[in-house]
Amino acid sequence: MKSKSDWENRYLEGTTGWDRGEASPNLLYWLESKQLKPCRILVPGCGNGHEVLILAKLGFDVVALDIAPSPVANLKKALSDKQLNAEVIQTDFFAWNAEKPFDAIYEQTSLCALEPSLWKNYEALLYGWLTESGKLFAQFMQTTEEGGPPFHCDVAAMRDLFISDRWQWSDEHETQVIHSENKHEKIYLLEKQL
Ligand SMILES: C[S@@+](CC[C@H](N)C(=O)[O-])C[C@H]1O[C@@H](n2cnc3c(N)ncnc32)[C@H](O)[C@@H]1O
Repeated sequence: MKSKSDWENRYLEGTTGWDRGEASPNLLYWLESKQLKPCRILVPGCGNGHEVLILAKLGFDVVALDIAPSPVANLKKALSDKQLNAEVIQTDFFAWNAEKPFDAIYEQTSLCALEPSLWKNYEALLYGWLTESGKLFAQFMQTTEEGGPPFHCDVAAMRDLFISDRWQWSDEHETQVIHSENKHEKIYLLEKQL
């Protein structure tokens, strides 16, 4: 399992292949199609938080979490430089409690960064963080490489994890992200069911 210092070292060394230096086109797709509208939103495992900056600029009430200190500091500085507001918290999300539930969660390369043995716990967190009809904007990483991170988030495995009693699945949306040959994302909107 990767520790806080493992993640921090990746940022210090600059070995952050997942960071495209700007917000993911998938986020822009959810926004432009108006499926994601200003609301209280959580971005777990936000990294440098390019998505957080866009959401804050558009008036979302954003809370962003990351275990590694460097990206949290980078994001706080970027927000301050742009005179934007978001709550950025350096924490292990497995040890964090939300003060209030969220209308939406933007999940991007956070699940796939976790050992599959932790996925059940993470799904329970996502479910618990959302309001009764909260929405999970899910980018599920697909990779043909062994091991991880990123770990392959096979859609059948995701359907077993995010079960239909708890989550109403959309059809697959077309990913807007161009990836390397052996990595891409499958994107879905999952609505919490009671
Ligand atoms: C693959 S990176 C993705 C970062 C960001 N979502 C992006 O797309 O640029 C995974 C991120 O999750 C963070 N992370 C991993 N485990 C975590 C945990 N238990 N609690 C909070 N953040 C965690 C890492 O520090 C890292 O920034």
